[in-house]
Order: sequence, then C-alpha cells, then structure tokens
Amino acid sequence: MAHRALRIIAAALVGGVLSACTTEPATTGTTGKGSSDGKLVLGFAQVGAESGWRTANTKSVREAAEKAGITLKFSDAQQKQENQIKAIRTFIQQKVDVIAFSPVVESGWDTVLKEAKNAGIPVILTDRAVDSQDTSLYRTFLGSDFVKEGQEAGKWLVKEYEGTSEPVNVVELQGTTGSAPANDRKAGFADVIKGDPKFKVVASQTGDFTRAKGKEVMQAFLKSHEDIDVLYAHNDDMALGAIQAIEEAGKKPGVDIKVISVDGIKDAFVAMQEKKINVVVECNPLLGGQLMELAKKVVAGESVPRRVEVKEGVFTQDEAAAALPGRQY
Ligand code: AHR
Repeated sequence: MAHRALRIIAAALVGGVLSACTTEPATTGTTGKGSSDGKLVLGFAQVGAESGWRTANTKSVREAAEKAGITLKFSDAQQKQENQIKAIRTFIQQKVDVIAFSPVVESGWDTVLKEAKNAGIPVILTDRAVDSQDTSLYRTFLGSDFVKEGQEAGKWLVKEYEGTSEPVNVVELQGTTGSAPANDRKAGFADVIKGDPKFKVVASQTGDFTRAKGKEVMQAFLKSHEDIDVLYAHNDDMALGAIQAIEEAGKKPGVDIKVISVDGIKDAFVAMQEKKINVVVECNPLLGGQLMELAKKVVAGESVPRRVEVKEGVFTQDEAAAALPGRQY
C-alpha cells in the first residue's frame, strides 16, 4: 500500500507540473487510485478479433485477470490504430493503475505513450512490439520472437528441398501491414532462404491475418501464377482460407502446394492431420498469467525484465496427431 501512496504523490506532482505548463485537464496525471474496491485496475487495449490466435489470447487475458483478482477494463480496437489510441487515452482519464496493449502496428505510439508516462501510469507491451526509440515509454515487452518464427519457417523449407536444384516458387501471405509479426516473420524467413537462389518469393501480399482475406489473396495468386510450389502464411487463419482457394482451384494443399503456417491453433492441427498443412511454427497466445504477474509487479514498483519471451515449438504432420488432444487453443 505504501508504494501506491508514493505513486499517488509522485503522479500528483507530475500532474501539478503538467497543469502549470499545459492546458491538460486537471484529472490527467493524478492516477494510481485503483478501483473503489481496492483492486488493481488494468486497462487492456486488444488488437481485435481477427484470428483464432487472437480469440485465445483475449480469453487467456480475461481468465487470468479474474484469477488474479485484477479488475480488467477491456477494449477491442477492431484492427485500427486510432481506436487503440482512443482506448489508451480513455484508460488514462479513468486513472487505471496500469495499461497493457498489443499494438496493431509498430509505429506512431510515442505521443500517447508520453501521455501515459506523464500521468504516471506504467505501460506493458504484450504480444507485439513498438518501434519507438524511447524505451522509457514502456516498462516491459511480453511476447514471442517473431523473427525467430520466420526463421523456423524458412529452415523447414530449406530442409524440405535439400538436395534438389529445381526452382521453388513461394507465395507469401503477410499479416497486417506495418505490424510487428508481419514485418518480422517476413524478415526472418527471407533471411534464411536468401542463401539459396532456387527459392523465389514470386508474390507477397497482405491477407490481414484473416481467413477471408487469406482466401481472396490466394485466389488472386493462383490466377496470376500457375507454378506455385509453396505457400508461406504468416498465420493459420490465412493459411486455412488459402487452403479453400487451393482446393477450389482443383489442387491439393500440402501436396501440389506445400503449406507453411504460424500460430498452432487447433484447426491448423486438424489440417495438418489431414495432410493439408505441412508444418506449423507455434506462436503462443496464452500470455494472460504472465501479464497479470508483470502488472502486479510494475504497479508495486518492483523491477521487471525489459523483455519476457514466450516458449514455442515447431510441429510437422508426423507430430500433429499426438499433439492435437493437448492443444489448449
Ligand atoms: O500478433 C500475433 C499475431 O496476431 C498472430 O500470429 C495472428 O494470428 C494474430 O492475428
């Protein structure tokens, strides 16, 4: 409780400075009171509900907050940065104790994060990073290593085509333009395959991490390229949408066109069992428990690591059947 009182005094001082030099409303900068029932209040600005991964992530955050006795203020940005910025500003006005968010895109956060900092509210990045140079604007980043995920996808491809010199034409379904997972999964994959000129990415376009867009873009790829050997999808939902397009075009996914995907949702494991997806690089959405631990620590003024990574694996068709019953999302 003492730390909270100290934080209130510090925030009030910051608020005083702010109201002296700017026209900010008096409420800004006087945070730290928590809820009326004395529970810690976490404002969480989610990306949206674009994928199976995201649904599992939201469920994990909600359940973990309840278990930890934390009051959760939840906002769904519907994949729009402006909505997330609005939600963060609302959390600041509501004087939550801590803000966590999964940034839709990497850039353009400095202004709103400075507002949170000036109000004395700590920020935790979950799942996705921001490209801000000022790392004092957030306390920690909890999430996957997306570059590594892209590299794992590339390594599987290199191994699959070991010993052949024939050209391998790859089409890529990117995630949301400007998002950390789209940028990093593309970069990690490209980095691994660039050593062998037989691999050619003949088309690469965003499918916005959704099934519908994945299908639509794959239909266009199939029309403009007759000789696709491999699909690399930045997430399972796009891969599953693309599989429908491949089947509707009279081809066999997993055989005529090999499919590499990322996430590891149950539907993708079923598709692997059916031999329609060849490999899935896991990206774990079950971050709720770790997030609540970090939230408690930062509000208590305890030190936390700048970066908290999530453990993940790679699954092939041979491993899919055994792994499926144990999948939690
Ligand atoms: O940021 C994680 C990514 O976002 C997941 O891979 C994708 O499915 C989600 O929409």
